Amino acid sequence: MNILFTKRKSVRSFKPNPVEKEKLDEILAAANSAPSAGGLRARKIVAVEDKKMRANISEAAFGQTSIAEAPLVLAFVALPKVSAKKYDERGKNLYAVQDATLAASFAWLQAVDLELSSVWVGGFEEEKVRKVLDLGENERPIALLPIGYA
Ligand SMILES: Cc1cc2nc3c(=O)[nH]c(=O)nc-3n(C[C@H](O)[C@H](O)[C@H](O)COP(=O)(O)O)c2cc1C
Repeated sequence: MNILFTKRKSVRSFKPNPVEKEKLDEILAAANSAPSAGGLRARKIVAVEDKKMRANISEAAFGQTSIAEAPLVLAFVALPKVSAKKYDERGKNLYAVQDATLAASFAWLQAVDLELSSVWVGGFEEEKVRKVLDLGENERPIALLPIGYA
C-alpha cells in the first residue's frame, strides 16, 4: 500500500497556523483532477477561512469543534441539476453526489501528502450549511473537510 494511505487518519484538532496558499492551490488542483460522470464535474468546492463563517458551519454541524478549529474548511457541494441534464434521476440522485465525494477524497489525500490533516465531516444539517455558504436550491453540500496542521 502506498505510504499516503497509511498516513491518512482522521484528525479533529488543529493548530491555528494557516494553510499556505500554495498548498490550498495544490489541494484544489487534486480535487479538480478527480473523475466525474460524463466529465460533467457536477460539483463545486467552497473554501472557507473566515473564522465567523467557520463558527457558523460548526454550529450547523452539531457543534463539531474540528470545523471551528481548523484554519481552512473545504465544502464539497453536489450540483444535481448539472448531472441530471444528461443522466436524469440517476445523475441527480447518484452521480452528482459521487462527483462531489470523489473530489473530497482526492483533496484529503493531497492534503495528507502536504503534511496536513483532516477529517471527513458528514454530520451536519444541510439546510443550515446551505444558508451559511449561500448555496442555491440546486446545490447540495455533501461533505466538509476541516484542514490544518495536527
Ligand atoms: C461518510 C462519512 C461521514 C463522516 N462523518 C463524520 C463526522 O461528521 N464527524 C467526524 O468527526 N467524523 C466523521 N467521519 C470520520 C469517521 O468517523 C472516520 O473516518 C472513521 O472513524 C475511521 O477513522 P480514520 O479516518 O482515522 O481511519 C465520517 C466518515 C465518513 C466516511
